[in-house]
Amino acid sequence: LLGVLLVLLLVYLASSFSLGSPKDRKEPPGPTPLPLIGNLLQLDLKRPYNTLLKLSKKYGSVFTVYMGPEKVVVLAGYKTVKEALVNRAEEFGDRQAMLIIREFNQGHGVIWSNGDSWKDMRRFALTNLRDFGMGKRASEDKIIEECEHLIEVFKKHKGEPFDTTQPMNYAVSNIICSIVYGSRFEYDDPQFTSLVDRTNRTIQLVGSPSIQLYNLFPWIGKWIANRNEVETLITANKKQNLQLFSRLKETLNPLMCRGFVDAFLVRKQNLEESKNTNSHFNDDNLMQTVLNLFAAGTDTTATTLRWGLLFMVKNPKIQDRVREELSEVVGSRQVQVEDRKKLPFTDAVIHETQRLANIVPMAIPHKTTQDVTFQGHFIKKGTTVFPLLTSVLYDESEWEEPHSFHPAHFLDADGKFIKRDAFMPFSAGRRVCLGESLARMELFIFFSTLLQRFRFTAPPGVSVEDLDLTPRVGFTLNPSTHKLCAVPCV
Ligand code: HEM
Repeated sequence: LLGVLLVLLLVYLASSFSLGSPKDRKEPPGPTPLPLIGNLLQLDLKRPYNTLLKLSKKYGSVFTVYMGPEKVVVLAGYKTVKEALVNRAEEFGDRQAMLIIREFNQGHGVIWSNGDSWKDMRRFALTNLRDFGMGKRASEDKIIEECEHLIEVFKKHKGEPFDTTQPMNYAVSNIICSIVYGSRFEYDDPQFTSLVDRTNRTIQLVGSPSIQLYNLFPWIGKWIANRNEVETLITANKKQNLQLFSRLKETLNPLMCRGFVDAFLVRKQNLEESKNTNSHFNDDNLMQTVLNLFAAGTDTTATTLRWGLLFMVKNPKIQDRVREELSEVVGSRQVQVEDRKKLPFTDAVIHETQRLANIVPMAIPHKTTQDVTFQGHFIKKGTTVFPLLTSVLYDESEWEEPHSFHPAHFLDADGKFIKRDAFMPFSAGRRVCLGESLARMELFIFFSTLLQRFRFTAPPGVSVEDLDLTPRVGFTLNPSTHKLCAVPCV
């Protein structure tokens, strides 16, 4: 009898996943979920984007999976992702934050917020990235200056093998520091290195399978040590930022803002003086937006650059061609953003790096803002949506060689650079990456200057074939740990 009751209970629970909507509201198809754990057994939690890509071949471009008890609608392929994010931007434009984020973020900042607060913070961050970041000639100079510091670090290794992760993170993070605080830090400043190292460790942890399990089954949280580590890291970074903010406050001059924090403090002050009590310019939003800019703006760009160098080592002929183009067009002077249009091959190599590296494979979870009927399927308001960027960047109907490093994807028959619509590493629509322009400027200057100054090779005794291109597990796809040699070009 107990067995029969158990079977009945399982049937009831399983059916409650898929039923519950009127017949005319046809929900997206998908694999049958098991009670409680949903489709977790079918998903590779380390690399869920791979399984989702496979499932899209079976269930089509709009399908449902259950991540434990949570229902997720997956959008696959260029046409579908574009239709949802661009043509139906409003309906698919909210953010779904997982539990670990909700615990520490509480809906503030840009990445994980919604509604008017998100709009205000996004607009303000964009304006300030333009003013203190990519918009002015000064920002190009900032990147060029930082690149010189990075080159000095690379040179110190004298062509011997080393891991590029830390210097790359420090250089890219310093660009965010200049924009946010108005100044850069030395690479041996412990205040700076701990901020960057903690940020990167947090990103790694948030994408780990154990934290994903915690998000789905919080009651097992207390057995998961990583949850506490995330808390410690975030608390330490907040504390350090509070110290930095209070130093900036002491020397604040409203007529001469040094960076994002100054501009925010001035805006906050002005609103307080005009007795505006409804403002989103509060301390929580300042803290979370700053943490967001570091989290989203460092690991992504630094990782892409490291993939770029790795692809160059794997493809030495392509590396040589980039250097030849740089030598013909730029010679030995400093590369500038202006040069980009005269460097089609280099530009194509950077685009192809971003396409194949696919560093944010499932974008960041979206959420429907209302009930939606999409490609004949009903999707309820508040449903989590994964725009599967992997399926766009590797879309077999868009790319001639989706799984190889093939810069010709971005070149016409005459070798001129061509834009490709399915190039979507920054996603698209309402939630498109806020730092896209800055990131593109950084990628171009850092990558081309490094290739101009160094030849990158595998360590002695390691063959090019031995270099592993399998990404590490994490929120963003990093190359597995490896060392490279940066041999100075004479
Ligand atoms: C969001 C990619 C660099 C700030 C995103 C998203 C992707 C992405 C895929 C999610 C979009 C969506 O949910 O549909 C990248 C890549 C980068 C990069 C590939 C570098 C190669 C940056 C930089 C910054 C930044 C340098 C800041 C300075 C943000 C922010 C969001 C975001 C704030 C959230 C936007 C919102 O929710 O409104 N990025 N990003 N990113 N990115 Fe980036």
